[in-house]
Amino acid sequence: MKFIDLVKKRKSLRTYLDKPIPRQDLLSCIEAARLAPSACNAQPWKFLIIDDKDTIKSLVKDICHTIYSFNKFIGEASALVIVISQKEGFLRKAAGKIKGTNYYLIDIGIACQHLALQAQELGIGSCWIGWFDEKKLKKNLKLPKKNKIDTIMSLGYDKSIMAKSKIRKPINEIYSFYQK
Ligand SMILES: Cc1cc2nc3c(=O)[nH]c(=O)nc-3n(C[C@H](O)[C@H](O)[C@H](O)COP(=O)(O)O)c2cc1C
Repeated sequence: MKFIDLVKKRKSLRTYLDKPIPRQDLLSCIEAARLAPSACNAQPWKFLIIDDKDTIKSLVKDICHTIYSFNKFIGEASALVIVISQKEGFLRKAAGKIKGTNYYLIDIGIACQHLALQAQELGIGSCWIGWFDEKKLKKNLKLPKKNKIDTIMSLGYDKSIMAKSKIRKPINEIYSFYQK
């Protein structure tokens, strides 16, 4: 598949078939994330994969309550990848402060999109999840309080037969060529 076609094909998937993802495929997604670039090559990520249906269900019940409930659909996903950001080293932290840029979030973003595109190539849909009860997630998974978890990637096979269109701004609204 051409790269642009893969990019067009990837859409947030929110309905999942009850079908496990082979661990080899999950590892291919992690490998794609591993190869992502990062500022100072810091690779500030760890990926915790949950592919047991019962564990997913009970975790999602815990972290997608009340104000987070519109993300309950991830309880049906075949796998969740919990993206654990690693502590910033002194240099990166200082550079980020001076520049006013949160480099680790850029890094995590690229890695997760590598993961999502690799999944898509394998016929696995995904959805970025940024809205969940992070405290409860850490408690449930017994992760240290100091860990930062900004996003979860849900993964699964498409249940719906309807093709979803992409809603995007037109290209002429988002670019310009610099003129001297
Ligand atoms: C950082 C980030 C956080 C997101 N959080 C959520 C979320 O909590 N729940 C959800 O259903 N979709 C979430 N999304 C998916 C976006 O809504 C989706 O990517 C956007 O609407 C574009 O649609 P598409 O992915 O189908 O192209 C998130 C996406 C990103 C990049």
